[in-house]
Amino acid sequence: MVPISVDLAFARKDIRKASEQGRIIVVIDVLRATSTIITALSNGAKGIIPTETIREARILWKSYPESLLAGERRGLKPRGFHLGNSPLEFKREIVEGKMVILTTTSGTKTIGVAKASPHVILAAFLNASAAAERILQIAQEEGLGITLAPSGRKNSFSLEDFLCAGAIAIKLKDAKAEFSDFALGALLSFQGLKQPLDRFIWNCHHARELVKKGFEADVKFCSRLDVFRRVPVLKLKGDHLLIA
Ligand code: MLT
Repeated sequence: MVPISVDLAFARKDIRKASEQGRIIVVIDVLRATSTIITALSNGAKGIIPTETIREARILWKSYPESLLAGERRGLKPRGFHLGNSPLEFKREIVEGKMVILTTTSGTKTIGVAKASPHVILAAFLNASAAAERILQIAQEEGLGITLAPSGRKNSFSLEDFLCAGAIAIKLKDAKAEFSDFALGALLSFQGLKQPLDRFIWNCHHARELVKKGFEADVKFCSRLDVFRRVPVLKLKGDHLLIA
């Protein structure tokens, strides 16, 4: 059996290239886009339509007036939106049975960049084990390579996303996998954590920024491992993307 290639890409151009090569792309944005999406779907949202821009989100909403308009810029809810990007806002009583149109600074852009791949999987600490199991299953069944894509803040390096890539990579270790140095670096970083995850994430730049804006509870919520089994995937629906 050919070993499964496990790589990690930060730059959007590399993520796009990997997706065009047909690799499985695992988009990770712990703080907070993928954590929010996982929570919304776990709480019964019908689906999430990711958009790059606020304008695009507003235009799409006109076609789906029953849906919820959600997202952030500089961490805060845009004017006229129903919800921001705090996973804690996406409670069952608010999102169940609803479609959500979501636009965020980085996460939804990275998701869009990966759309050429036949399998785009969304992951965070909240679903790390379930995501790893699903990724491994697809990779083995279809003989595809895996590219972990830590989205980062404005597509620059974010330690919490890199560590989450490591939390997923560690679960692939026992399969016949061949790690790139980047992927191995993430795995070793996660393995080498000496502090509990939630305490460590507190030190990360984006976590500090969110705390300053009053989103301390979000940082705590997103720093928990394996809370949900839901593994969102990206699909193309008509002329837009759909996460379900
Ligand atoms: C993003 O997509 O850039 C993040 O989710 C920002 C945030 O913390 O809301």
